[in-house]
Amino acid sequence: MTGKNKANSVWLAGASGICAVLALLFAFAGRAAAADAYKPWVAPADARKVKNPVPATPENLAAGEQVFHNNCVVCHGEKGEGDGIGGKALNVKPANFTDAKLMSLETDGSLFWKISEGRLPMLSWKAILTEKQRWQVVDYLRTLSRKASTKH
Ligand code: HEC
Repeated sequence: MTGKNKANSVWLAGASGICAVLALLFAFAGRAAAADAYKPWVAPADARKVKNPVPATPENLAAGEQVFHNNCVVCHGEKGEGDGIGGKALNVKPANFTDAKLMSLETDGSLFWKISEGRLPMLSWKAILTEKQRWQVVDYLRTLSRKASTKH
């Protein structure tokens, strides 16, 4: 084997290791979603009624944007259009928060509940984000459909 081939095979071994990890991740995400046909995700009625205790002040919106940027963009996309690079590999499409019609079906309480509980492939955020951060990101999500509709 020439030196060049050896270097190639070391590289290949490393790359196939990474591929195996990625394949596992995607298989897991795929199984969770494909176990049965997609069921619409509906928050319980009492969760829908919960009022947002965190007003959409400039400070809370800025904090919400930061939370979104650090945790959600990978799947939901920079502008919240559901087109993040992580989301592209999933069987279930991440929600598009710029869709005003979709967002009008949700209350702040139901968004908060979904973010808190999660549903695979989206994990539960309640152990990762504080309650205040979850409300702040709800405030921020509300601005995304407004931004989209003023674009036209
Ligand atoms: C691993 C990719 C991933 C990440 C990261 C992620 N999400 Fe999701 N999210 C999804 C997917 C996929 C769905 C659709 C789930 C379904 O319909 O079953 C979803 C759905 C949602 C919904 C429900 C929308 C609706 O109307 O039903 C909300 C709200 C949401 N995500 C908020 C967030 C927030 C906030 C963050 C960051 C803190 C986040 N997501 C991070 C993948 C992700």
